Amino acid sequence: EREFHGQVTLDGPSGTGKSSVARAVAARLGAAYLDTGAMYRAATVAVLDAGVDPEDAEAVARVVAGARIEVGTHADTERVEVDGTDVAVRIRGAEVTRAVSAVSAVPAVRRQLVDQQRSLVAAADAVVVEGRDIGTVVLPDATVKVYLTAAPEARAQRRAAQLGLTTADEVAELAADLRRRDEYDSSRADSPLRPAADAVVVDSTDLGREQVVDRVVELARSAVEVR
Ligand code: DC
Repeated sequence: EREFHGQVTLDGPSGTGKSSVARAVAARLGAAYLDTGAMYRAATVAVLDAGVDPEDAEAVARVVAGARIEVGTHADTERVEVDGTDVAVRIRGAEVTRAVSAVSAVPAVRRQLVDQQRSLVAAADAVVVEGRDIGTVVLPDATVKVYLTAAPEARAQRRAAQLGLTTADEVAELAADLRRRDEYDSSRADSPLRPAADAVVVDSTDLGREQVVDRVVELARSAVEVR
């Protein structure tokens, strides 16, 4: 099989299975993997630990500017550190998840992390980068751009299974929450969530994870062949 060199961007809302697809694609392509959401979550840990209000944009920008945020780029091992402390578990907690939207909406934070993302990508010969604005802002000249989407109900089902929730009411509440977050992320002024003009939109509502992975790997390999 042909080797892949280049950049695959994987953007889209949460609950689409994007992270597990991105990791599997990176493993299949023998590529590095960068989870940019983990970087915004790590920045949020720094903000919370500084005792700063996540809605106070100026204070947030100041704290994040002084924080050393480090992430690994291997698909099979997650490394996330803030000032040398391992925060890989903490970044997935409810406290961080609640505050990360506000932190990631601060333009100075985005500029800082986007610069860091571009440096990490430049060091890799082949890389899969997942996030919200990778195809539109971070890597506008990427080899292949994929926008992964799914119906809110399907995303809510997936989330519910992860969280061990089962009733119809719980799933409906998750779907409503996902709609609200989509609206927030798609309407923010800086780098709103949307597909790049040249992205391939993959709707995973009726696809299994392996089917989505196959499709993205196929897109990556064929993009290399036409170049
Ligand atoms: O993908 P995730 O749930 O780990 O992302 C965490 C938050 O960071 C989410 O609110 C969206 C935001 N984010 C962003 O604004 N830009 C990115 N490139 C990645 C994530």
